[in-house]
Amino acid sequence: MLKNDQLDAWDRESFFHPSTHLAQHARGESPTRVIRTASGVHIEDRDGNRLLDAFAGLYCVNVGYGRQEIAEAIAAQARELAYYHSYVGHGTEASITLAHMVLERAPKNMSKVYFGLGGSDANETNVKLVWYMNNILGRPEKKKIISRWRGYHGSGLVTGSLTGLELFHKKFDLPLSQVIHTEAPFYFRRKDLNQTEAEFTAHCVAELEALIEREGADTIAAFIGEPVLGTGGIVPPPAGYWPAIQKVLKKHDILLIADEVVTGFGRLGTMFGSDHYGIEADIITIAKGLTSAYAPLSGSIISKRVWEVLEKGTDENGPIGHGWTYSAHPIGAAAGVANLNLIDDLGLVRNAGEVGAYLKKTMAEALGDHPNVGDVRGEGMLCAVEFVEDKADRRFFDPARKIGPQLSATLLAQDKVIARAMPQGDILGFAPPFCLTKAEADTVVAATARAVKAVLG
Ligand SMILES: Cc1ncc(COP(=O)(O)O)c(C=O)c1O
Repeated sequence: MLKNDQLDAWDRESFFHPSTHLAQHARGESPTRVIRTASGVHIEDRDGNRLLDAFAGLYCVNVGYGRQEIAEAIAAQARELAYYHSYVGHGTEASITLAHMVLERAPKNMSKVYFGLGGSDANETNVKLVWYMNNILGRPEKKKIISRWRGYHGSGLVTGSLTGLELFHKKFDLPLSQVIHTEAPFYFRRKDLNQTEAEFTAHCVAELEALIEREGADTIAAFIGEPVLGTGGIVPPPAGYWPAIQKVLKKHDILLIADEVVTGFGRLGTMFGSDHYGIEADIITIAKGLTSAYAPLSGSIISKRVWEVLEKGTDENGPIGHGWTYSAHPIGAAAGVANLNLIDDLGLVRNAGEVGAYLKKTMAEALGDHPNVGDVRGEGMLCAVEFVEDKADRRFFDPARKIGPQLSATLLAQDKVIARAMPQGDILGFAPPFCLTKAEADTVVAATARAVKAVLG
């Protein structure tokens, strides 16, 4: 057994942490937190602290921690067949079964599932397929992708470009020129405070129309969006947003990629966010909830319309030149099959909807009247509280004060509850596992109220 202090030293000497202030961490100014075990909605660190994880890791451990059914499926798969590739028509029982199960749950216009490893590479696949498609259709100029400011779609070269958050662009020479951004559907942060929700939706639509007009519809291949903005602030769309946006996209023959990495497999209380908002996507991105993060696996669900063109493309050009060594990895696929079965068996989609609604309601009751709480919002098992310096004229805090990070640190220190300080704005985000009980939701709300009192009075 390693001594804790040695692990700490090795961490600072050897480990490059993602999304971390590297210099502060190397200097020992930020803590190394070593997580040792977990069960249900709780994780435990090496010092024996038991923390209520109200963000399900990175909104991915949807069924909760410590599910033996999934662990055993992974172990059985590793013993039987740890790996074989899926190139040139190969597959495994687990990968083929999982593709079938995903399509059983997906919207009816979907046709095939391509499996990758994480959300970023899945969106990378999606952009490549859209470009391939338009080349096959003889429209090589129609290639740009529209994303929204505050969207999050990954942190690769193309996917970091799709992501509409400054932190992910700065000093990385992103976004690439093929990606263009439009208005974030973020009603609370609308510029014109007099706008109703319907007027704000009309404004988002007008911005999209104007962008298409400026760039030329014949240069734009696709629009990508999360049903509910996630990392950009946990923001459900304003009323009528998705039907109105889809009307514009249809008019200009622009494909729609629904990025359901967070919302796929139940987080909004429906199997997909597309079901919840009536989104008819051409491609759906899935990852996190597909295996509840018990193993890395993502997917691109391809509609019949796109699939037909891909088949035509290979008839004309030979096998598709796309794939990873670990595409449809059997261990990930076995985890996915066990995870989707467990979600059904335990009725977790329904629970996500019911307890999620309770969490939002009780959070709003506990905090809504606080002078620094500007907005309490959410959908299904997603909830956010946004803080302002002045409520009456919706004046935000100076970001240098780091109110959001202070609140999440206080929540952890006082009551051992994990919520995420979202990266742009003073926004506390909650995305618990779907198995959260009402009593656990009460704990989260009471702890949040205590943290708000401690930091803001
Ligand atoms: C909506 C969405 N898309 C894509 C990604 C990227 O997934 P990954 O981090 O697995 O690459 C994320 C990650 O948080 C996400 O929230």
